[in-house]
Amino acid sequence: MASTSPRSVLLIVLAVAVAISDAQLQLSETFYDATCPQAASIVQQKVNAFVDADRGLAAALMRLHFHDCFVRGCDGSVLLNSTDTMLTEKEALLNKGSLRGFEQIDEIKMDLECACPGVVSCADILALVARDATAKVGGTSWPVFLGRIDGGASFADEVNSSLPERTDNFTQLVARFARVGLDARDMVILSGNVTSAK
Ligand SMILES: *[C@@H]1O[C@H](CO)[C@@H](O)[C@H](O)[C@H]1NC(C)=O
Ligand SMILES: *[C@@H]1O[C@H](CO)[C@@H](O)[C@H](O)[C@H]1NC(C)=O
Ligand SMILES: *[C@@H]1O[C@H](CO)[C@@H](O)[C@H](O)[C@H]1NC(C)=O
Ligand SMILES: *[C@@H]1O[C@H](CO)[C@@H](O)[C@H](O)[C@H]1NC(C)=O
Repeated sequence: MASTSPRSVLLIVLAVAVAISDAQLQLSETFYDATCPQAASIVQQKVNAFVDADRGLAAALMRLHFHDCFVRGCDGSVLLNSTDTMLTEKEALLNKGSLRGFEQIDEIKMDLECACPGVVSCADILALVARDATAKVGGTSWPVFLGRIDGGASFADEVNSSLPERTDNFTQLVARFARVGLDARDMVILSGNVTSAK
């Protein structure tokens, strides 16, 4: 799934968002209502402007969330830069040179830091951005449950062992989807959607 259609990425992101929200019951649509009530509107305004300037970015932003969620859960680990001791997910074959949108996420994060310092997680930003980018290009919208905590670890090696690949057989695909809380039925429905969307 290194180069997948925007539609298929959208469907997977939707499903992952639902699976993760089921698994972590503390997530809530109103998570930032008291601490940063303007968070969602700041994100949406920025995403609308970015996608107006570059429509293709919408698919890239969805893909960023999908690649974040499949590796270590939706924890923002896809955003981390490599250090002397850590080669991060960004450097993995399935990501390097093909993932984009990092600068835009940085800019949104900066605006949110100005509005409410230290409140909104990068993982939540990725989740909101994926939804808003999708809606902006005429896709389905969905409720985003918030309250994810950013992870501090990110390893390139884990990308290969987590993301679906074109060469995966059925058994491997089922196992990969199972790791993010999606069963074989979810996977088949998503795959059927991809085929029917072509
Ligand atoms: C990663 O590095 C780039 C380029 O130096 C920088 O703009 C970006 O903010 C860094 N991202 C993180 C999450 O530290
Ligand atoms: C990662 O996947 C690529 C093909 O997509 C393969 O060439 C490479 O050997 C894999 N690396 C590991 C560590 O599995
Ligand atoms: C799927 O691939 C794995 C790893 O290559 C292999 O061990 C397994 O036998 C394959 N399963 C089927 C049904 O082909
Ligand atoms: C995707 O699958 C769902 C569930 O079967 C269905 O309601 C929906 O219409 C499908 N969407 C596409 C684009 O095929």
